[in-house]
Amino acid sequence: MLLELKSIDVYYGKIKAIHQVSLAVDSSQIITLIGSNGAGKSTTLRTISGLSHPKTGEIWFDGERIDRLSPVDIVKRGIAHVPEGRRVFPTLTVLQNLYTGAYLRRDQKKIDQTLDQIFQYFPILAERRNQRANTLSGGEQQMVAIGRVLMSAPRLILMDEPSLGLSPKLVHEIAGIIRNIKETGVPIVLVEQNAELALKLANYAYVMEVGRISLKGPAEDLHNNDHVRKAYLGV
Ligand SMILES: Nc1ncnc2c1ncn2[C@@H]1O[C@H](COP(=O)(O)OP(=O)(O)OP(=O)(O)O)[C@@H](O)[C@H]1O
Ligand SMILES: [Mg+2]
Repeated sequence: MLLELKSIDVYYGKIKAIHQVSLAVDSSQIITLIGSNGAGKSTTLRTISGLSHPKTGEIWFDGERIDRLSPVDIVKRGIAHVPEGRRVFPTLTVLQNLYTGAYLRRDQKKIDQTLDQIFQYFPILAERRNQRANTLSGGEQQMVAIGRVLMSAPRLILMDEPSLGLSPKLVHEIAGIIRNIKETGVPIVLVEQNAELALKLANYAYVMEVGRISLKGPAEDLHNNDHVRKAYLGV
């Protein structure tokens, strides 16, 4: 397994946000975490990224225990996070924002190759490369946020609600790009409230309910599961 969470508990002060969460990600795989508001999805991603630390349990990445490392050290190991709410540097241009993702890389030629790839994924970003990020639409900012993560040449991507607030057309585009990223062999942990989309994209899925994993299985199976259909697919 590339990434493994082993029975982690995460607290905010005295409040336990996550109880005994275990999950595993293999290479070339999309796993998804679905669940309602406050279930603990973002907390799980933040804990993988080192922004929170589990009180008990362990997180392993590529044979190394990482749950005590700082966020910077976790980024250095190749784990990249597209946070909730598509954060970009507002006063930097599109190009400057993208280059911030590459700050740990040295090989300019390879960085430029990644940039070309991102501009192929998102041609609009090439057009707007010198435009300040705060003048972009929400969807374009999401593209910048995803592009910046790709610029780091990550070994694992954590994506928090990439479809939130986007038009159906853009959701479709982003879904295509998530598939493309997977084809390039980079695994993704995808957090989504759009369960329909997430279960279509993912190989394996976990359902989170009030801080716990209540259900897990191949995405296709969960898509056919009665509880999932009623609670998350509105069927
Ligand atoms: N910084 C914080 N301080 C205290 N409690 C927090 C903090 N962040 C999250 N929580 C609490 O932890 C629980 C899990 O929140 P989390 O953001 O992980 O949920 P989520 O599944 O991502 O929800 P959403 O779908 O709304 O984004 C919630 O009860 C939330 O109120
Ligand atoms: Mg969240």
